[in-house]
Amino acid sequence: MKRNKKVLVFLGSPRRKGNSAILAERIAGGARAAGASVETVFLHALAIAPCKACYACQKSKSKGCSIGDDMQPLYRKMIAADAWVIASPVYWFTMSAQLKLWMDRSFALPAYGKDPFEGKRIAVAMAYGGEDPFDSGCVNALRTFQDAYHYVGAKIIGMVYGSAMEAGDIKANKALLKEATALGKKLADDND
Ligand SMILES: Cc1cc2nc3c(=O)[nH]c(=O)nc-3n(C[C@H](O)[C@H](O)[C@H](O)COP(=O)(O)O)c2cc1C
Repeated sequence: MKRNKKVLVFLGSPRRKGNSAILAERIAGGARAAGASVETVFLHALAIAPCKACYACQKSKSKGCSIGDDMQPLYRKMIAADAWVIASPVYWFTMSAQLKLWMDRSFALPAYGKDPFEGKRIAVAMAYGGEDPFDSGCVNALRTFQDAYHYVGAKIIGMVYGSAMEAGDIKANKALLKEATALGKKLADDND
């Protein structure tokens, strides 16, 4: 039976209405139009400490991550979601620190549920101030997502990224906004 998908959006920029957030919102809009329910998490507003490599989360019968911060409620939400939208600006030729903290801490996810990454559907949205994805460093982050999520058995459904400097500049790139909406529909589609 067809079940509507749950999509969890992670905004990795401190700019709540910045360019990567705008792309993520377009993806969310496409997913909603395809019947998905969407929840958005603004990482910059949360207290998420760096992973301290205690490996408590990797022990058998682990109760999860030993750090009691705002990451805790996210673990179960991440497991319950069918799909994640991962949005980040390019900072120093890769993803933002906010997003990397979240990504490192997701190392503990297997302590909260069996094979939590397996088959997880992922869409990526990125913005950069440089000329193109190569000279801006965007590709470094894209490659990290590809390698990391392939390694854990998740499925990257698509990636949208474009050049924009000031918050909102990305709106001028109409073709990219359309691409983002289409990606959201694909993310929520049962047939793919
Ligand atoms: C700390 C910082 C580092 C940045 N580093 C880069 C960079 O390495 N390459 C690049 O093309 N743009 C860089 N930028 C520009 C942002 O990627 C650009 O403004 C982007 O549109 C921000 O996306 P947002 O609106 O989603 O935050 C940097 C901006 C800041 C604040």
